[in-house]
Amino acid sequence: MKKKGNEFKGLAGGKNYRNFARLFGFTAAFYRKGIGNVTLSDGMRALDLGCGPGALSFALAERASSQAGIIGIDISKDQLNYAQSQCSQYDCNIRFENCSMDELPYPDEYFDVVVTSMALHETPPDVRRAAIVQTARTLKKGGRFILVDWSKPKFGLWGVFWFPMICWGEQNRDNWRNVYPELCRHNGLQLKEDCYINSIARRQVFQKE
Ligand SMILES: C[S@@+](CC[C@H](N)C(=O)[O-])C[C@H]1O[C@@H](n2cnc3c(N)ncnc32)[C@H](O)[C@@H]1O
Repeated sequence: MKKKGNEFKGLAGGKNYRNFARLFGFTAAFYRKGIGNVTLSDGMRALDLGCGPGALSFALAERASSQAGIIGIDISKDQLNYAQSQCSQYDCNIRFENCSMDELPYPDEYFDVVVTSMALHETPPDVRRAAIVQTARTLKKGGRFILVDWSKPKFGLWGVFWFPMICWGEQNRDNWRNVYPELCRHNGLQLKEDCYINSIARRQVFQKE
């Protein structure tokens, strides 16, 4: 079967991933900035693509009413199991499911918000393109897609540190070239906000027309 992306499992998954990510600045504050001022009120549904141990889902859960629902998906069962073990402290309904972001098993126009952080660059280019098609399909009209991932570094301290790793390899080219606004536009998702959260991580918010 064709590889869907880098699966973070074993030593690279679950609690280990979460601790390691914190060392690199991916703290709760980082994920809160990723979510920004988005809130989920009663009945609203959100999806987190490549959720890992759930940090972005949990930042969204802090801003969700008890009658809202969040689904995180990932190809790694280790990530999903750890995420599931952490969600009891949140009021809203959160669940984690094992699937690939390019094959979403949800109906058309089902979600109000789709989010993703640091995950698109872990997939092959055809998978991330299909994920954007699936995002556009499953979002409601007027719904938002929040995409957080690294982009061309701004040369602060972190930018210098990351530069050799992220300017290398075919897998990273889409992020370097910032192709997402055009790919999203092609699928009916218009860019509404665009800013850096730190020296390398860029937050882009798209809206479905
Ligand atoms: C760098 S981690 C980011 C995790 C999380 N979003 C965060 O910010 O902490 C990338 C995640 O994407 C997952 N992944 C890779 N390819 C995927 C795919 N095709 N569909 C869903 N998840 C995928 C990996 O297993 C991993 O958990």
